[in-house]
Amino acid sequence: MASNTEFGSKIGLIAATVGSAVGLGNIWRFPAETQTNGGAAFLLLYVLCLLILGVPVMLAEFSLGRAGRSDAVGAFRALSPGKPWYLAGAMSVLTSYLILCFYIVVAGWTLEYLWESISGGLFAGIEHGVTPLAEVRSLFAARMDEYICTPWRPLLFTFGMIAINAGILVCGVQKGIENLSNVLMPLLFVILVVLCFITLSLPDASEGVKYFLNPDFSKITPRTVISALGQAFFSLSLGMGILITYAAYYPADTRLGRTSVTVSLLSLLVAVLMGLIIFPAVKSFGLDNEPLEGATLVFVTLPEVFANLPYPALWSALFFLLLLVAALTSTISIAEVSVAMLRDRLNMRRSTAVIAVTVPLMLFSAVCSLSFSVPDTLQLFGQTVFNFLDTVTTNVFIPLVSIAVCVYIGWFAPKGLLRRQLSNDGRLHSPFYPVVLFVIRYVAPVLIALVMIFNYL
Ligand code: PFF
Repeated sequence: MASNTEFGSKIGLIAATVGSAVGLGNIWRFPAETQTNGGAAFLLLYVLCLLILGVPVMLAEFSLGRAGRSDAVGAFRALSPGKPWYLAGAMSVLTSYLILCFYIVVAGWTLEYLWESISGGLFAGIEHGVTPLAEVRSLFAARMDEYICTPWRPLLFTFGMIAINAGILVCGVQKGIENLSNVLMPLLFVILVVLCFITLSLPDASEGVKYFLNPDFSKITPRTVISALGQAFFSLSLGMGILITYAAYYPADTRLGRTSVTVSLLSLLVAVLMGLIIFPAVKSFGLDNEPLEGATLVFVTLPEVFANLPYPALWSALFFLLLLVAALTSTISIAEVSVAMLRDRLNMRRSTAVIAVTVPLMLFSAVCSLSFSVPDTLQLFGQTVFNFLDTVTTNVFIPLVSIAVCVYIGWFAPKGLLRRQLSNDGRLHSPFYPVVLFVIRYVAPVLIALVMIFNYL
């Protein structure tokens, strides 16, 4: 059964799609990747990957979703009945669910840190300008152990996030997802600009800006290219079935080309603003020799920066609210992939579908969360369950789904589908159609496959 739900307004559908794209990928993965891969040179490659590959692949997913007018599995079924392409859709649903299981745990941490910033727990025992810096760092490291690596505390907050997610999803596409995104996305940009303003006015901030924006091309290696492509795909939410699912809710007159460019540029803008927050801040306080590795950056290094500022709890609360907003608008989009699939395939009511997604999620996310407190027991292939899911989805599932979507739209979908979707059935001029088709047919599948292979070497 095709779903007959739609987003109610242009702004709403952009807010929801940008909300999905802007997530922890932009906010903590991007600065970490930029630092590991040599600063501005990485930024440049990331922009190229985003525009040359990311936008066309996004258009492939949009076209599939809006033409199929159904969930990720149903879209393939509707367009190519009786063919096994729906298995690619099923793989995207599986990918999205596996990602949700560990990502919701991180979302839970952001809720926990927001709570601890507001209630004063995070900065307890630290006196601004008095406590020695080395002591501040070890205090935050110990807090991270306590907040993330103990069994019950993080679990409680993860379940809190799951409940919030379920509450929004039950309200539906317009009243839940769209209304929430309309409020939260502007809030996210306001917080980003405020934090940017604060960090750019710190002493020696310009050193950090230079590092971030002055490319050193000698730092580019095949690894850098692979990382930039991976980052571009993750940060646009490609290969997760999300864009197929959301595009099924796009009205017939939505301009897909314009939407994809807007979403990509806004996602890029968030990443750049984040770089302009992080690099000046760590440079200014001499913390730039510490690795900006994901969790440590967010839960140790940045609290150290905040502890050096007047009103640390205020900046910390704002920052974790930013993370929470980014994470929440992403988790609802990824959970909607499964909800839509259950509604459309099994004719479930929305509320029943949300419960069917939520209950197993509690179990699986608990395993991911507990894999930090009992890492020796909860292992898969020599890694914590959490890390295993992260690695396997990023390096195997997302690229496979993306290749399948490109090959399908480029070669096997009903004739003229992409052209009709890009031109809204001939009503719009679509000058970029030949380029987009060329990238979807030849460039994207080959490059993604090469990156997958290189990743194993
Ligand atoms: N673009 C999102 C991000 O950068 O975080 C990708 C994503 C991940 C979306 C996990 C949803 C999600 F649950």
